[in-house]
Amino acid sequence: MAPSRVSVLALGNAILFLSALTGAQEPEIPTFEHHSPPAYPPPIGTGEGFSDWSEAYSKAQAVVAQMTIAEKVNLTSGVGWEGEQCVGNTGGVPRLGIRGLCLQDSPLGIRFGQYSSAFPAGVTIASTWDDDLSYARGYAMGVEHRGKGVDVQLGPVSGPLGLFPEGGRNWEGAGSDPYLSGVGIASAIRGIQDAGVIACAKHFIANEQEHYRQVGESAIAINESLSANLDDRTMHEVYAWPFADAVKAGVGSIMCSYNQINNSYGCQNSELMNGILKNELGFQGFVVSDWQAQHAGVATALAGLDMAMPGDQLFYSANSWWASNLTGAVINGSVPVWRLDDMATRIMASFYKVGLDKDRVDVNLDSWTTDVYGYRHWVAKEGYGVVNGNVDVRGNHASLIREIAAKGTVILKNIANTLPLQKPKQIAVFGSDATDNPRGPNGCPDRACADGTVAMGWGSGTANFPYLISPLSALQNKAIADGTVIQWVVDDYATEHMEQTATQATACLVFVKSQAGEGYSIVDGNQGDRNNLTLWSNGEEVIRTVAAKCNNTIVTLHAPGPVLMEEWIDHPNVTAVLYAGLPGQESGNSIVDVLYGLVEPGRLPFTIAKNANDYGVKLMYKPDNTYTPQQNLSGLLIDYRYFDKHDIEPRFEFGFGLSYTTWKYHDIVVRKTNAGPYVPFNGRTPAAKNTKVTESAESLLFPDGFHKVRAYNYPWFNTTSDIKRDGENGPAEAYDPTGTVIRPAGGAPGGNPGLYDILYEVNVTISNTGKRNGEEVVQLYISQGEVDDPVRVLRGYRRVSVDAGKSTCVTFTITRRDISRWDTTTQNWVVSPAEKLVYVGRSSRDLPLVAKLNGERSTGFKKNNKPGRLGHGMKAFM
Ligand SMILES: *[C@@H]1O[C@H](CO)[C@@H](O)[C@H](O)[C@H]1NC(C)=O
Ligand SMILES: *[C@@H]1O[C@H](CO)[C@@H](O)[C@H](O)[C@H]1NC(C)=O
Ligand SMILES: *[C@@H]1O[C@H](CO)[C@@H](O)[C@H](O)[C@H]1NC(C)=O
Ligand SMILES: *[C@@H]1O[C@H](CO)[C@@H](O)[C@H](O)[C@H]1NC(C)=O
Ligand SMILES: *[C@@H]1O[C@H](CO)[C@@H](O)[C@H](O)[C@H]1NC(C)=O
Ligand SMILES: *[C@@H]1O[C@H](CO)[C@@H](O)[C@H](O)[C@H]1NC(C)=O
Ligand SMILES: *[C@@H]1O[C@H](CO)[C@@H](O)[C@H](O)[C@H]1NC(C)=O
Ligand SMILES: *[C@@H]1O[C@H](CO)[C@@H](O)[C@H](O)[C@H]1NC(C)=O
Ligand SMILES: *[C@@H]1O[C@H](CO)[C@@H](O)[C@H](O)[C@H]1NC(C)=O
Ligand SMILES: *[C@@H]1O[C@H](CO)[C@@H](O)[C@H](O)[C@H]1NC(C)=O
Repeated sequence: MAPSRVSVLALGNAILFLSALTGAQEPEIPTFEHHSPPAYPPPIGTGEGFSDWSEAYSKAQAVVAQMTIAEKVNLTSGVGWEGEQCVGNTGGVPRLGIRGLCLQDSPLGIRFGQYSSAFPAGVTIASTWDDDLSYARGYAMGVEHRGKGVDVQLGPVSGPLGLFPEGGRNWEGAGSDPYLSGVGIASAIRGIQDAGVIACAKHFIANEQEHYRQVGESAIAINESLSANLDDRTMHEVYAWPFADAVKAGVGSIMCSYNQINNSYGCQNSELMNGILKNELGFQGFVVSDWQAQHAGVATALAGLDMAMPGDQLFYSANSWWASNLTGAVINGSVPVWRLDDMATRIMASFYKVGLDKDRVDVNLDSWTTDVYGYRHWVAKEGYGVVNGNVDVRGNHASLIREIAAKGTVILKNIANTLPLQKPKQIAVFGSDATDNPRGPNGCPDRACADGTVAMGWGSGTANFPYLISPLSALQNKAIADGTVIQWVVDDYATEHMEQTATQATACLVFVKSQAGEGYSIVDGNQGDRNNLTLWSNGEEVIRTVAAKCNNTIVTLHAPGPVLMEEWIDHPNVTAVLYAGLPGQESGNSIVDVLYGLVEPGRLPFTIAKNANDYGVKLMYKPDNTYTPQQNLSGLLIDYRYFDKHDIEPRFEFGFGLSYTTWKYHDIVVRKTNAGPYVPFNGRTPAAKNTKVTESAESLLFPDGFHKVRAYNYPWFNTTSDIKRDGENGPAEAYDPTGTVIRPAGGAPGGNPGLYDILYEVNVTISNTGKRNGEEVVQLYISQGEVDDPVRVLRGYRRVSVDAGKSTCVTFTITRRDISRWDTTTQNWVVSPAEKLVYVGRSSRDLPLVAKLNGERSTGFKKNNKPGRLGHGMKAFM
């Protein structure tokens, strides 16, 4: 996504596309091993056989049938960066009373919003492991966007997935496991869309790092964006997995990414958009480009892109690959009319699906000024009037925000019953992360700094804070209420003062941080991706100083992901450690709720290693070549799967988190259902209607007397001499009069419907054996058993609330997809012959219950046991 006005970097890549025109001798393009296979023609969306899309498609087809070419083109093309009030704006169809679509960041609230909420980041909702909360957060965000007139909320995020712990935008996502991420974004999508806003799952795909994602941002000059290369199995089982859940949840739009995949740009890769998304996964919505991630006109249309954002080739370039160029490409036969119809129909189908035809709100926010009055066409300085209506859309969302941030805080260490705190006599608070940024909560553009408490990452995935409760202010309120004395030192370098203050306190609360964000801003030398996994702002030294003087040191960490803790985690005076993620506006209140035991905590959605090398991956900080960096992402072993496979002991494993009570797991029961066999899908999309262009060249000109806004992309031409009419059928390879053959793994939203058949039901009983009512995150893992499978993969989880002394039965269903692997030969999912085991427990390494999937019970598997080996090795362990 796009930088804000204040921080656009040099945009140098226009050169690249013009070099061919200069007549100079063409430089040699190096060859690379990985290529993306062609996938044509682009499948047509019809909604047929997709019950939750069929009504929307009927309406969309009816309205698109009334549109002219220019009107259809208008819906597909952004008007240009800063051309209207939202971060992305399409043209409209005024003749039919349809205003252009407003697309707005971000995944955690309204970017540039005023009187709107700053929700907890993706990583924090993921840490709750609570689908109801995820839905509620999505719904609340959707309500806020809708109230501002936003049509498309640019979230949720599942790419980056989090392969690299340093990855700059991991915090926007939903945890470093495909299953967790898929369930998480699906519930967010349902929430956002139930509130009447189109969700946008992003970034498709393999956008795992910030460095080299865009030519213009690279400190070291490169010719083309980084290519993430990955094999077919990894694509299906890891990176595309969550997007299948998004499609199944009915997501209206998906954003293609900046990076290349197998040396083909995400927004012109036909295998990804035509092949995987629209054919195999049955995606019926529209694909929108990331902001200036489109690098060609005709090629992107044929590869399956449906909407170009922000519409100009580069920010402020005031020209477009699409808009009038798309009109021209349809007239001259390079893009078939039915492809344009399909683009417009997909966009309008999503529009109707979420109910944007009813009570649509006028855009009443502005991305380019905080003033009430301003230019509606900001870059053109035209259309002066009220641009920020300042509608307060926050409702009662603060309490939900507070609850999520508290329930998403993970207790990593808690010895000698340090927590929950009970009216300590004197507390002392340390670290700048406890306090306010002196420049205010929105003092850093797009939050690109780490001053004061860190409550979100930086970049386009941010929102303005309507307020930000710092830990210190919330702790003061609590201390006053309890009669506790409270002192603090928030200067991270005031060592002597820290020592003095620490000596007096009965509880020392240290707040430390780390920060990450999007690659267009550099903070303390970190270009989005973190340069290291250690603490910022002298954090280790602050902990060391306080712990040397205080035998009850409680460390709270605000961070976008894992942080190395070996230096201090075992310090005997460090009595408790909490990972508080990126909590949003209610930060301080939430941490008080956890520290004082008013709320049950969450679980880690990633692994915290002892050593950065233990993750087994290396983010590419230096390009391997300066033409187009090649990054190999092949391999299924993301996060805990790598640790398990290589027998590496993490500091805190994926899924880990302490509870305020104790739990016992017992009585695992497996029941096999009588689901039918898996049937490879056999079918075609309806044939493309080989529509002829009937419109006259004159009808494609700007209407007489039309006022052209400066630097604005229109679908029209100036003179008929600009219009070349050469053909009408589109190129042969893009047209199949009999329709597109649907892949055997396809046939329904999210893939072959048989993948979602329930094959097993697994019941377990869990008992709260402690003295407090509590909440437990019951986790289910499956071992698929082949040598080349991960040791275990997450395939179910449930956050349950159980009163002290009580038990509850938790039922999981296991689908065919849950036990299948991608077979590259048949291009389909298969269940391998190896014996499959199901594990249930408290984390990826604390799994007291094991059973075979044929229903037999097995012996336990306890934390600190060596993880089960592969395949046959597992039998020995049984
Ligand atoms: C890559 O970019 C460099 C610097 O702009 C340029 O000199 C070179 O010709 C480009 N290479 C190719 C193959 O286009
Ligand atoms: C990428 O290339 C690999 C072979 O190296 C191939 O298996 C895979 O299908 C390709 N994927 C895409 C999306 O191009
Ligand atoms: C395209 O959209 C722009 C902006 O909404 C509008 O001014 C123009 O009239 C539209 N063109 C057509 C053909 O509807
Ligand atoms: C059409 O595309 C060409 C090639 O990229 C570009 O030079 C031109 O400016 C575009 N036209 C418009 C009106 O945007
Ligand atoms: C048709 O127009 C598009 C956009 O201007 C251009 O890229 C393409 O090369 C043209 N095709 C033909 C066959 O003239
Ligand atoms: C890690 O990065 C942070 C932020 O740039 C910096 O403050 C810290 O000193 C770095 N740590 C090490 C060990 O270099
Ligand atoms: C722990 O704190 C006490 C003060 O309460 C101090 O005397 C002791 O040296 C500290 N221990 C360590 C290992 O720093
Ligand atoms: C911590 O130190 C205080 C005195 O400073 C002492 O009363 C208390 O027992 C100590 N706690 C532990 C756990 O050692
Ligand atoms: C699992 O629990 C559910 C709900 O309590 C029950 O309906 C079902 O029969 C149980 N299944 C097995 C296999 O015990
Ligand atoms: C129409 O003319 C204007 C200059 O008056 C130019 O900026 C624009 O690109 C032209 N549009 C097309 C489609 O050629």
